[in-house]
Amino acid sequence: ALRAAVVSKVQNNNPRSLNYVQPQASYKVAVLGAGGGIGQPLALLVKMSPLVSDLHLYDIANVKGVAADLSHCNTPSRVLDFTGASELANCLKGVDVVVIPAGVPRKPGMTRDDLFNINASIVKNLVEAIADNCPDAFIHIISNPVNSTVPIAAEVLKQKGVYDPKKLFGVTTLDVVRANTFVAEKKNLRLIDVDVPVIGGHAGITILPLLSKTKPSVTFTDEEVEKLTVRIQNAGTEVVEAKAGAGSATLSMAYAAARFVESSLRALDGDTDVYECSFVQSNLTELPFFASRIKIGKNGVEALIPSDLQGLTEYEQKGLEALKEELEASIQKGVDFVQKQP
Ligand code: NAD
Ligand code: LMR
Repeated sequence: ALRAAVVSKVQNNNPRSLNYVQPQASYKVAVLGAGGGIGQPLALLVKMSPLVSDLHLYDIANVKGVAADLSHCNTPSRVLDFTGASELANCLKGVDVVVIPAGVPRKPGMTRDDLFNINASIVKNLVEAIADNCPDAFIHIISNPVNSTVPIAAEVLKQKGVYDPKKLFGVTTLDVVRANTFVAEKKNLRLIDVDVPVIGGHAGITILPLLSKTKPSVTFTDEEVEKLTVRIQNAGTEVVEAKAGAGSATLSMAYAAARFVESSLRALDGDTDVYECSFVQSNLTELPFFASRIKIGKNGVEALIPSDLQGLTEYEQKGLEALKEELEASIQKGVDFVQKQP
């Protein structure tokens, strides 16, 4: 609550008047793909964080203007821009959290996996640079297909000898944000109270909202469960179709990614009560990566929360079994992409 108050004050007032409550702005965040549809609003939201001292914006083009523009906001962080591969190392040195929304988005008719051929190489190259320049940073992967790009990142980090599974996160926060919004709307709940865990992965049926675990406790008819589940699973496609060729979710994604960044920074800053859903290395199922609620601490993933997978409804249990084949294949595709390179 204190941080929320500070954020709202930073937005409304001169931050210099806030010395008495302002947390130390001491963390460095890099956004790779910062000139894009997600990157720009995400950079703006991260610029508003009182925990950030330095915001590094990297893209292959068009990032200088974004940084100049943002740097005029009178919030604590210093904004620097980095353009092209030759400036990537400098962008990454000393950074605590790296967020990757670089890559192409879907157009109507495409699956997230259709992005693999382009985005796999982009993520691989960026994570190689992270391994060389800031191997201890938290890495947040947004680029799709997340079910494959996170395993790609893990393999790259392993090859470089710096893989720490606790610090590699696939960003699935948007699935939770959507689930919370849709459930609150359907059940007339106060949005701020609603929390729905979403497990599995981040594509189609691999996105599995656990409506039975909704907080506050609420009952759904079978028809409501079916409709809400399918809507949450197809919410990305809903936006892709509405944008009609102009890309996929950017603003809600930036909002969700900023929440995940803020949670990570709070954890780094010593908050011991930070929980989010994320697609991470996992032993909760037989799959090597799995999205679930996790506890985040100073060193990254401090614990997976197994209780969400206990006491599932029959519908959820079926959904869990049904998603495993696709998720396993997507994970393996990512692993093979790195391991089978000449
Ligand atoms: P966009 O095309 O608007 O922006 C992508 C940016 O990446 C561009 O500025 C581009 O120049 C940059 N880029 C391309 N190659 C790069 C490289 N090698 N290094 C650095 N930057 C590079 O796309 P967008 O709408 O911002 O979406 C980005 C990605 O995020 C897509 O893959 C999309 O599918 C994914 N996405 C994921 C989620 C999620 O929930 N995880 C949600 C929405 C979108
Ligand atoms: C989303 O869920 O909005 C993203 O994964 C983008 C997409 O392609 O749907």
